[in-house]
Amino acid sequence: MPAELACFEERCRARFPITEVLYNCPHCGGLLEAVYGKPAQSAEELKKLWRERRMSNAPLDQSGVWRYREFIPFLDDLSHAVTLREGCTPLLPGRLAAEYGGLDALVFKHQGFNPTGSFKDNGMTCGASQAMRLGMKRVACVSTGNTSASMAAYASSAGLQPVIFIPHGNISFGKLAQALEYGAKTIQVDANFDQILALVREVAERLGIYLLNSINPFRIEGQKTIMAEMLDQRDWKVPDWVVLPGGNLGNTSAFGKGLRELKALGFIDRLPRLAVIQAEGSAPFYDLMHSADRSHLTPVGHPETLATAIKIGDPVSWPKALFEVTTSEGVVEKVTEQEIADAKAVIGRCGIGCEPASAATLAGIRKLTASGEMRADSDVVAILTGNVLKDSSYIHEYHTGVLTTGSGMPIVASLGNPPVVLCNDSAIIADYLRVTV
Ligand code: F0G
Repeated sequence: MPAELACFEERCRARFPITEVLYNCPHCGGLLEAVYGKPAQSAEELKKLWRERRMSNAPLDQSGVWRYREFIPFLDDLSHAVTLREGCTPLLPGRLAAEYGGLDALVFKHQGFNPTGSFKDNGMTCGASQAMRLGMKRVACVSTGNTSASMAAYASSAGLQPVIFIPHGNISFGKLAQALEYGAKTIQVDANFDQILALVREVAERLGIYLLNSINPFRIEGQKTIMAEMLDQRDWKVPDWVVLPGGNLGNTSAFGKGLRELKALGFIDRLPRLAVIQAEGSAPFYDLMHSADRSHLTPVGHPETLATAIKIGDPVSWPKALFEVTTSEGVVEKVTEQEIADAKAVIGRCGIGCEPASAATLAGIRKLTASGEMRADSDVVAILTGNVLKDSSYIHEYHTGVLTTGSGMPIVASLGNPPVVLCNDSAIIADYLRVTV
């Protein structure tokens, strides 16, 4: 069977050619996904091949996404692939973080090591490649920051014009700066993420611009490989839990799909449980999971959180995410701004660091172990989605004790580490260091 697009809705499952420019099912409006036949090689053969490619200097083999190309076979011509050598992100143990989270051990898969500093690169390499294959000239997205930085880099590296829409005043400079540097036409709109997404879809359709938000099924294919790489790095030993932050829920959808497919193809014999963590002021998926009627999601009209990457009130991928969390017997938890800030400082003290949205994972783990949902001896992989330098003003404000929530509530610098000012005198500085370090 060649690669096709399929409607995700169980009652529809309509199929479309992989080369059709579609973001939703034309019949029922459902989300779309890429589907494939079985690969020619067995799981054991592919495990060996994928491992061997780590020794290769070929650009696609050096990519932590395209190395697994038999797992995402939507391109018939690999010369369309656009790569900045994404993926290849490390598994980093965090001893202090494990202790803080109530676990015996904890490993972070740090997607902040990607070329533009977030997991978005895993998906964007595929989205941009599909744009090339379709002969597109311009690509667009709405973003709270990371998607725009990533899309700008991948589009520009392929000679496509990136057009970015961002909520005015609601994105960190570290992210905006990247979009500008990578040559994106950047439009700030006075509206929130969800409102701008609707706007961009209309503009993109009118002008024939290819949309690269996470509703784009090819981005999901690329993000799937995060799970393949994580398992490959663990010699295919399945963890008990994979913990990740939830915003628009593209990653949740991608991880669930990837893990299910790896199981169906015989790479693994069981699924890890997904634990999706949302910020309390922006937790529509948490509400959905905890309501009796899961047939529709009630959007949060005014989402609030300093973790801007997950400040999303109406996540488009919720039907897929609901299916994946349920199938994996997973959970959805929510955490406060204070919990996110403290967890972030703990991850920092492990020498790892991440952006606020990523730290929701550790805050969530702490809650899940406290409630007994997650056992202390569980084998847990938490996904750090973005780089520590993405939101440096948040870090400085936290450590100096001046961080406040959007509504002005102070965040306590429980683990604050402010810089000190001393005079130019070696005796005074020596005295200070003698008592403090
Ligand atoms: N973590 C980071 C660092 C992100 O940038 C995002 C999403 C998420 C988590 C949430 O992931 O949407 O797959 O549930 N950022 C988007 C953006 C919305 O515009 O960059 P999700």
